[in-house]
Amino acid sequence: MQLEQVRLRLASFGQSHLLTFYDCLTAREQECLLAQCAALPLEMIAREVASWSHVKSATGDANAKIEPAHVVAARTVDAAKYCAIGEQIIRAGRVACFTVAGGQGTRLGWNAPKGTFAATPITRKSLFEVFAECIRAARIRWECAIPWYVMTSPQNHEATRTFFQEHGWFNLGEGTVRLFEQGTLPSLSTDGKILLSACDAIALNPDGHGGAVRALSTSGALAEMQRENIDTISYFQIDNPLAKAIDPLFLGLHAAHPESSNEVSSKVVAKRDANEKVGVFCRRADRSLVMEYSDLPANLAQAVGPDGSLVHFAGSIAIHAFSRPFLERLASAGHELPLHRASKKVPCVNLATGALTEPTTANAIKLESFIFDAVPLAARSLILETAREEEFAPIKNADGEDSPATCVRAQSNRAARWLEQCGVTIERSAHDAGYDATIELSPLTALDAEQLAKCQRLPKCVAAGETLAL
Ligand code: UTP
Repeated sequence: MQLEQVRLRLASFGQSHLLTFYDCLTAREQECLLAQCAALPLEMIAREVASWSHVKSATGDANAKIEPAHVVAARTVDAAKYCAIGEQIIRAGRVACFTVAGGQGTRLGWNAPKGTFAATPITRKSLFEVFAECIRAARIRWECAIPWYVMTSPQNHEATRTFFQEHGWFNLGEGTVRLFEQGTLPSLSTDGKILLSACDAIALNPDGHGGAVRALSTSGALAEMQRENIDTISYFQIDNPLAKAIDPLFLGLHAAHPESSNEVSSKVVAKRDANEKVGVFCRRADRSLVMEYSDLPANLAQAVGPDGSLVHFAGSIAIHAFSRPFLERLASAGHELPLHRASKKVPCVNLATGALTEPTTANAIKLESFIFDAVPLAARSLILETAREEEFAPIKNADGEDSPATCVRAQSNRAARWLEQCGVTIERSAHDAGYDATIELSPLTALDAEQLAKCQRLPKCVAAGETLAL
């Protein structure tokens, strides 16, 4: 697009300020800025900004239609039957792992892709290595190929690729790990103006984990899966090292449980309390959906049943099974998942001076789509309740809740429980205290307690305060 065309288009959407420094740029910088401006989804942004003034109804009828989700508890299903179905699908090579790792990890404050963060209790393996080991262990156990798709963002793609290269692709085989980039959206000021990150560059943020639907399609990943007869996608996020990269029970339920339409299935855990900041599975108009914690009206979030437990208890842990055809259908129908907005600190150019400003408080709106908004697009979906201590310990914050420290403790406690189930005595410094040994279990040693029972290297006893890596 030529300068004049871009100028007119920007003007008609009230974004002319993006060319404030155009005349001071080199020819190459000018070209680059024009290309970025020409690619902006200005109509969509204008629609989005216009919607900001509509106040969402948080009371009355809109609430009345939100009902508790139909949740299937893992302990109530015929585990042997569904595990067998899941294992058949895995052995047939029909499953791919898919990890979203394009986020910016701002709360953790780790200045590199989150997947490179050292997360395990003793050997300090990175999150990428933990999942690489899970996938290698699953390949060995079920004697099959399981490719790993990892979504990055333009902001962390090269650093992620370098990390995998430096670690020899974690012995998975380079050709079986496919890194691809998600899209971006411009960051906006609170009054809807697109921000500049430099005089010749638009401030862009990754378009959210919901960007996976489009990125899986445009990167050719879905087509590649189709060629390789992969029809089931095991989805998890990079920041939860307790996630089972491959779970035969879940995959079997996704494939064959009557509640499942075999399109998308999800795992949930009971919320810690009404205020826990996780999305909540609910039902509206006969469809399952996830409501962000900030969107669930307080009276619903806090509602309790006769036994005092939360009515809307089903906290999303961002683990899903998708069928490939379902994602293909969403991508080809051009389904845009709805955009959510988040207030963030975004460094941006001061238009009066041209200097880069580092904000100290939230100054910008980031637009993102969320993968869980695909759930109501399925005819039916299975929601499986699982145990938090077995499957959910995300690393979100630098300290406090959901931090590296709580995650390390959760990994160690799970390992201790599995060892106890195998007959190992885990001593504690006080009778009623929690585990105080630090234990790290490699997925290559065992993917679950049953597999651990077959391990030849189990100790008889782990002393209180002992450090043990297996
Ligand atoms: P979060 O929403 O927790 O974001 O992502 P984050 O980037 O890890 O951390 P904050 O919010 O900046 O502190 C949950 C998962 O979704 C991925 C993340 O990499 C993480 O695995 N994600 C998030 C993407 O892949 N792309 C995105 O645009 C956003």
